[in-house]
Amino acid sequence: MDTMMRAWVQDRYGNAAATTLRRVTVPTPGKGDVLLKVSATALNAGDIRVMSGDPYLVRLAFGLRRPRNPVRGMDVAGVIVDVGPGVDTSLIGTEVIGELSGGGLAEYVITALKRVVPKDPRIEPAIAATVPVAGGTAWQALHHGKVKAGDRILVIGASGGVGTFTVQLATDAGAEVWALCGESNRSLVESLGAAQTFDYRSTDAGDLPKSEFDAVIDIAGTAKLRDLRRLVRPGGSVVLVSGEGGRVFGPIGRLIRAFLLSIRSTRPIRPLAATAKPEVTSAILERVAAGSVVPVIERTWPLDQAQAALARVESGRTVGKVVVIPD
Ligand SMILES: NC(=O)c1ccc[n+]([C@@H]2O[C@H](COP(=O)([O-])OP(=O)(O)OC[C@H]3O[C@@H](n4cnc5c(N)ncnc54)[C@H](OP(=O)(O)O)[C@@H]3O)[C@@H](O)[C@H]2O)c1
Repeated sequence: MDTMMRAWVQDRYGNAAATTLRRVTVPTPGKGDVLLKVSATALNAGDIRVMSGDPYLVRLAFGLRRPRNPVRGMDVAGVIVDVGPGVDTSLIGTEVIGELSGGGLAEYVITALKRVVPKDPRIEPAIAATVPVAGGTAWQALHHGKVKAGDRILVIGASGGVGTFTVQLATDAGAEVWALCGESNRSLVESLGAAQTFDYRSTDAGDLPKSEFDAVIDIAGTAKLRDLRRLVRPGGSVVLVSGEGGRVFGPIGRLIRAFLLSIRSTRPIRPLAATAKPEVTSAILERVAAGSVVPVIERTWPLDQAQAALARVESGRTVGKVVVIPD
């Protein structure tokens, strides 16, 4: 068993340049934990928020001067190579997948066993790693919006990690999807199942037909709340997955406005705070194995280039997911 490993460590909040590749000690699993040899780590906008400590509100939860966990990477596929007290040693060798609290941009990572689920060996680790955060958020957004077969929904921000899962899961559930995305991504989003697509740079949410949708899933977070609400039929809802805001409080102002607009409204605006749900990861992986959901991967990067991968996600221009694989 290795005692040292490579990991991308940050000692301060900042952009991708704040991370450095170091040799550090392989961690020891505590009670209820397992040690994973990392097979693949998918990156998320959430990794960038924690890396940069932006908005400042993030720092209250993750550490005032630097993130308490210095290694980014929440979406991890790996193999159990050691277990802590209270965990069955027969699990060693099991391939698993899960949303961790960080640490995936390394050769080994510790996680509580309860955060991971077995990975179907037929699914490549890089593909499985895309599922927990982005797929789980998409799943929870559709659930939050009570989306069902026969509904017509609008997905705003359809080409990113969360968006590409949202379009596919909604289509798989029998909903008709309209989508706002960049012009260059329209054909991709249509290939994922969208019936109609619009270029967000030339079409505002407010330009689309009023009272047309059973749910609007706003992943981009830039449209006016009143415009979003007008798109929804009475009885439908707007789900806010994301929201732009200031450097200090982030989307808090938008969330308060959403709350006020929703009082006694027949078209409520529902903010989403997605959480790690291993059972949802398993449910999506079943669809991946069956071929009804095909995760979109923009590019895989070797671990020694993970800083460039973080910078790419930081750009906000990724199509589908960015995945890092230990070389
Ligand atoms: N509420 C929660 O619990 C939760 C959970 C997970 C993620 N999130 C949030 O969800 C957001 C999206 O995450 P993600 O991983 O999908 O991001 P992402 O992969 O970085 O999204 C990038 C994509 O968004 C597109 N885009 C950017 N601005 C747009 C706009 N105004 N309209 C339409 N498309 C736009 C880009 O297209 P172009 O290249 O054409 O610009 C790009 O393809 C993030 O803000 C993240 O923090 C929230």
